[in-house]
Amino acid sequence: MRIGMLTGGGDCPGLNAVIRAAVRKGILHHGDEFVGFMEGWRGVLDDVTMPLTLETTSGILHRGGTILRSSRTNVKKIPGGFEKCAEVLASHKLDALIALGGDDTQSISLALAERGVNCVGVPKTIDNDLSGTDACFGFDTAVSIATEAVDRLHSTAEAHNRVIVCEVMGRDAGWIAVTSGIAGGADVILVPELPIDIEDVCRLVKYRREHGKKFSIVVVAEGAKLPEADQVVLGTAVDSFGHARLSGIGQVLAEEIEKRTGYETRSVNLGHTQRGGTPSAYDRMLATRYGVAAIDLVHAGKFGQLVVLRGTEITHIPIAEAIAKTRTVSEDLLAVVKSLQPLAGAV
Ligand code: F6P
Repeated sequence: MRIGMLTGGGDCPGLNAVIRAAVRKGILHHGDEFVGFMEGWRGVLDDVTMPLTLETTSGILHRGGTILRSSRTNVKKIPGGFEKCAEVLASHKLDALIALGGDDTQSISLALAERGVNCVGVPKTIDNDLSGTDACFGFDTAVSIATEAVDRLHSTAEAHNRVIVCEVMGRDAGWIAVTSGIAGGADVILVPELPIDIEDVCRLVKYRREHGKKFSIVVVAEGAKLPEADQVVLGTAVDSFGHARLSGIGQVLAEEIEKRTGYETRSVNLGHTQRGGTPSAYDRMLATRYGVAAIDLVHAGKFGQLVVLRGTEITHIPIAEAIAKTRTVSEDLLAVVKSLQPLAGAV
């Protein structure tokens, strides 16, 4: 078979591991040929490709980023975009297209699938918020990076008797905040799922001071909001899918905490460090399993499907189901957070 592959949306560690595994399985077991489209859907629209062979995908398992590069190109916004995509894909005589991406990327796959393109999806988002799968690769690596940062912030916060607010990624779901916050022993964890009660946050910080702890660590997801307020954004620009650039809730909180408590407070925004660098062993494994499973789906003729992890098993679900809604942090994890920080508004 001739199979196209692309990576769309924000990158995350493990994309190269998926590409390598799919190419290996396809070539070694089926004699498949691969075409890599560069920079997500842009590469399809502009017909910019690279060969994906055993040679070009060798030595990339441990590398972050994506050899196919990525973009947030929205085909829906381009007049005649879907027709152009279908034309380019047909010119390459492809039997299938595997798109690695989150809900935005998969929404384009779905639209193409409805136009007769044989699409298979691989779930990718650092935010871990795609429905129908228990995990997206890249999330484990991001959590390790954020946890290490929280660990490191402890000693400097302690040395100066400070509050440090650490902002992590998580646009609509607080998976990274909750996981790194619990693993790193943060005093307060704030997520997009619940409005921030600043009174409660300050009460919790003060309570810890009154009970012997002279510093505090607050972990906040970039998408968390104060009640009645919008998400804090950087500038006015939105990407082609309409998403604003989230950034700054950490600094807003730091200023508010310092004003209300009198404790010296700093903020740090981990930003894209969470998406960079080498994937963890877990993410390499998950990504490899997804890559193999995507080829299996293609050869089984199961199109319009997304490979997913359910428990410990790799299976698949319709792409439409996966993008129907955001997978927010589960109640049981929120309950763990509440057990550790029992004030009403702070999760
Ligand atoms: O969607 C994943 C994500 O990493 C979000 O957590 C974050 O808000 C956004 O992408 C950042 O996007 P960009 O890399 O385009 O700045």
